[in-house]
Amino acid sequence: MTENRQTRAELAEEITERIRPFVPATEEYQKTLTEAMAYSVFNGGKRVRPMLLLLTYRALGGDRAAEATLVDPFLAAIEMIHCYSLVHDDLPAMDNDRFRRGILTTHAKFGHAMGILAGDGLLNAAFEAALSAREPAGCEGRILAAMRILARRAGAFGMVGGQTVDVEKTGQPMTEEELVFVYRLKTGALLAAAMQVGAVLAGAPAETIDAVGEIAERVGLAFQIQDDILDVVSTTEELGKPVGSDEKNHKTTYVTLHGMRESRETEERLSEEALAILENISGGGDKEPLAELITSLVGRTV
Ligand code: IPE
Ligand code: IPE
Ligand code: MG
Ligand code: MG
Ligand code: MG
Repeated sequence: MTENRQTRAELAEEITERIRPFVPATEEYQKTLTEAMAYSVFNGGKRVRPMLLLLTYRALGGDRAAEATLVDPFLAAIEMIHCYSLVHDDLPAMDNDRFRRGILTTHAKFGHAMGILAGDGLLNAAFEAALSAREPAGCEGRILAAMRILARRAGAFGMVGGQTVDVEKTGQPMTEEELVFVYRLKTGALLAAAMQVGAVLAGAPAETIDAVGEIAERVGLAFQIQDDILDVVSTTEELGKPVGSDEKNHKTTYVTLHGMRESRETEERLSEEALAILENISGGGDKEPLAELITSLVGRTV
């Protein structure tokens, strides 16, 4: 990154503050729930999905003045959906992990029932946040189109669908085709939602939204391959979540299927392809920060 540009950590910090007002809080009888929800969000996540959303919006010439009212609600929505997916992914019925982002997982801290409920609450809060967005005059329809993408890609034909096959296939061999299906959905879908929501909010034409989907497809696969690699080569201290989780759960991963070297090569190739597609989009904004983010995800250490 160039010196006058925000580092990824600084941008993550900024995003955390921008999403804070959208995460519910209460002192009523259900306050344990909102505490568990906030615990699941404000715990040092990398904020990759809201970053992709924001930098895609800017790359495609989105109006900076409209960010607070139009984009911020969606930054919160995508991160709350992601956080809910992590809380549920860590439950004993799923990956059964006790650490996430360097601290106890939500169910380990608040109990299993509260883990389930915090996830449920975050999903609803996400759509409530998105519904609070306001579009400038002349931009009618963008919010609805963005919400459609979010709903579709978070659900049965997106993240939840991918998690379903991931869980069903646990302990069983998977073909390359099945594995790519799982990765495309469980991880790729939310990354694609983030980037395509950014594109839609910026007012990008249909062919650009499709091209952004092609970029996200590759970024998503590469992102999950690196997650699999880190599960093998990192340490729990550095990663903030237990390494060896995939082995413990007898998961087929890109690494078990293809080995470490090929996994790294595939990840790099996918990322280069993504950057080449981005290069060819006429954005109307600064594409460099988005390209830098995509580049920085390859070989990341957390
Ligand atoms: C972890 O996502 C789950 C995957 C889809 C691989 P991240 O690596 O983005 O996790 P946080 O948000 O930084 O904790
Ligand atoms: C999770 O994949 C993808 C989600 C939709 C949460 P993993 O199970 O590999 O994610 P981590 O390693 O627990 O973050
Ligand atoms: Mg999992
Ligand atoms: Mg997991
Ligand atoms: Mg993993």
